[in-house]
Amino acid sequence: MLKQIILTAFISLSTITVSQCATQETSNNSHQQDTKSLVVYFSAQNHTKDIAEKIVELIGADIFRIEPATPYAANPYDDAVKIREEAYNGQRPAVKQLIDKEQMAKYDTIYIGTPVWWHQPAMVVLTFLESYDLTGKTVIPFVTYGESVWLNEVMQKIYQSTPDSKHLPTVLPEDIDPDDFINRQNDDEGISMPERPEQVAGWLKEIGVIQ
Ligand SMILES: Cc1cc2nc3c(=O)[nH]c(=O)nc-3n(C[C@H](O)[C@H](O)[C@H](O)COP(=O)(O)O)c2cc1C
Repeated sequence: MLKQIILTAFISLSTITVSQCATQETSNNSHQQDTKSLVVYFSAQNHTKDIAEKIVELIGADIFRIEPATPYAANPYDDAVKIREEAYNGQRPAVKQLIDKEQMAKYDTIYIGTPVWWHQPAMVVLTFLESYDLTGKTVIPFVTYGESVWLNEVMQKIYQSTPDSKHLPTVLPEDIDPDDFINRQNDDEGISMPERPEQVAGWLKEIGVIQ
């Protein structure tokens, strides 16, 4: 009985902590207040974070930063071999803390941000997405990168991890060889991504989120 009480207390406590995490960074100076949208992102060097925060500033959504259970090196290039291993083998590194499922169920739209890591999304982002039933929700990826060569590969992976969701953009360019994410394929044409925070408003207009 005592064990059950302690367990119940623990579950309630972690639930509160996680839901606060999902809302604590919500922008105060947003133009709108979109309580049905959540901006989730992983970022090692803050480029993706900057884009995520700009989206929040513009639409007033909640925000949540994905942290891996095992942190990467402060300079992620020091972990390049480990990260390549994760990407090339489709691994799913554990997430330090998830948003509780009831909180997630409240959102209609999930913006999901990731850097390109070895031609793939950061695998921890897929771990996060696959932890939920996102049926019927709209998933909108945003991706930062060094070279705009692997966007289609990254987007395709995110779409595959959320098969029952709607997506923006609705349709991706044809993935020339879905099994090949090593060689360049020139199949990114038509995918638009904001590279810098100043480009976020234009991008949101382009995908039809704001006018
Ligand atoms: C280990 C590692 C692998 C990367 N692989 C790619 C890649 O395959 N293609 C690419 O365009 N950029 C690649 N990059 C660059 C990142 O995508 C880019 O710097 C991104 O904006 C970083 O986002 P962040 O600051 O949010 O972590 C890589 C960076 C690291 C650290």
